[in-house]
Amino acid sequence: MEKVSVLFVCLGNICRSPTAHGVFQHKVAAAGLDHAIRVDSAGTGAWHLGNEPDSRAAAAAQSRGYDLSGLRARQADAGDFDQFDYILAMDRQNLRELKSLRPAAYDGRLDLLLNFGSHPDFAEVPDPYYGGVKGFELVLDLVENAADGLLADIRRNFSLEP
Ligand code: 4NP
Repeated sequence: MEKVSVLFVCLGNICRSPTAHGVFQHKVAAAGLDHAIRVDSAGTGAWHLGNEPDSRAAAAAQSRGYDLSGLRARQADAGDFDQFDYILAMDRQNLRELKSLRPAAYDGRLDLLLNFGSHPDFAEVPDPYYGGVKGFELVLDLVENAADGLLADIRRNFSLEP
């Protein structure tokens, strides 16, 4: 069976989308679904290609049990639409960028990640890059919440057993 595939996208692919990648990969593994779901992340920008996640993002994730150490930044491109069933942007700016790359025939789900979440105050994951530690904790809070909704959506749509 081909895996269901999920791509998380932010601007630099060093803070928010690697966090989402690590958190969701962890939840997929905990659910025993590594054989069924593939996870990746990318940035719409090219400044950090090949770089490790930001040390602040990695430290915040580590303190909640998520390992981001193997991840390296890459740039999203039109080819990703051939590869991924879900392409989920952290904010509207990145969603707009992705829409400009989307082939007309794409029939997967291109959306904001937080549309799978239930946080009353946030529709986007705020960029933590120029802020302090609190911003990275907020990214984790929002991503953890939405990751549960995303996993439930995938189970429903692809009939994966709990
Ligand atoms: P990210 O954060 O999009 O969550 O990875 C950023 C990382 C780098 C920059 C902006 C946002 N930057 O301008 O270099």
